[in-house]
Amino acid sequence: MQKGKNLKIIIVGPQGSGKGTQAEMIATEYKIANISTGVMFREAIKNQTDLGRAVQSIMMQGDLVPDKLTNELIKERLGKSDCKKGFILDGYPRNLAQAEYLLAIHNISHIFEIWVSDKEAIKRISGRRMCSCGMTYHLEYNPPKIAGVCDRCDGRLFLRDDDTEEAVKQRLKIYHQETESIISFFEKKGIHYRINGEQKIPNVYKDVNKILNKILNDNKKKKQTRY
Ligand code: AP5
Ligand code: MG
Ligand code: ZN
Repeated sequence: MQKGKNLKIIIVGPQGSGKGTQAEMIATEYKIANISTGVMFREAIKNQTDLGRAVQSIMMQGDLVPDKLTNELIKERLGKSDCKKGFILDGYPRNLAQAEYLLAIHNISHIFEIWVSDKEAIKRISGRRMCSCGMTYHLEYNPPKIAGVCDRCDGRLFLRDDDTEEAVKQRLKIYHQETESIISFFEKKGIHYRINGEQKIPNVYKDVNKILNKILNDNKKKKQTRY
């Protein structure tokens, strides 16, 4: 039996809080689909698809892609067969309209909010290096074994186009103005968990994992009492 079956998780937090880092670890351990709207948009830009061309300049400035495009992309992605085993959504939803859209098409089991201060978020972004396979590194906090080369796939590491000072400031502003509102929305539904993101990567993961294990154990107990 797959460990994380039926986990339908949202991970939210400011830029640089470690959503991508933690989502990759959770998806690998619990064998669920890892879905990042940011990664999908960057892939579309790289391949210069219609979607990529439409979102390129919006992303470079650190603004949100229009809801219609984002919602359609997510609807299509969640319809794929790998999502039946559970999924983690990194970077979606990002405003109330997206949250309401998501709940109209899918149920969500829980949401992890990775909290970090703006100061820490900015520090993290400035040292970030990415690989096209999905791995994320940090020059100081999480360096690859060989400088500039991915540990997992030997790919060349690169900087993100939207990691400029202006775009970073804009993304943080939007986070506080728009994305934070989804936290109280899910809090009211009783499925929200806040994690202190200002700890070392494995310690953040330990906190996430503790909650996931508790939820999975509680679900198992509920099932046993039902039969
Ligand atoms: P997206 O790609 O989601 O970017 P973001 O939200 O700005 O978040 P980041 O990916 O920058 O940070 P992260 O939290 O994943 O941190 P990471 O793990 O990399 O979105 C990009 C753009 O796409 C948006 O601006 C928008 O234009 C568009 N978009 C996406 N979704 C959309 C939506 N739903 N609606 C509309 N538009 C949308 O970690 C950061 C660094 O810190 C790394 O170097 C990492 O190694 C390091 N690190 C991680 N954890 C720790 C730790 N605990 N201690 C020390 N270092 C750490
Ligand atoms: Mg990310
Ligand atoms: Zn790689």
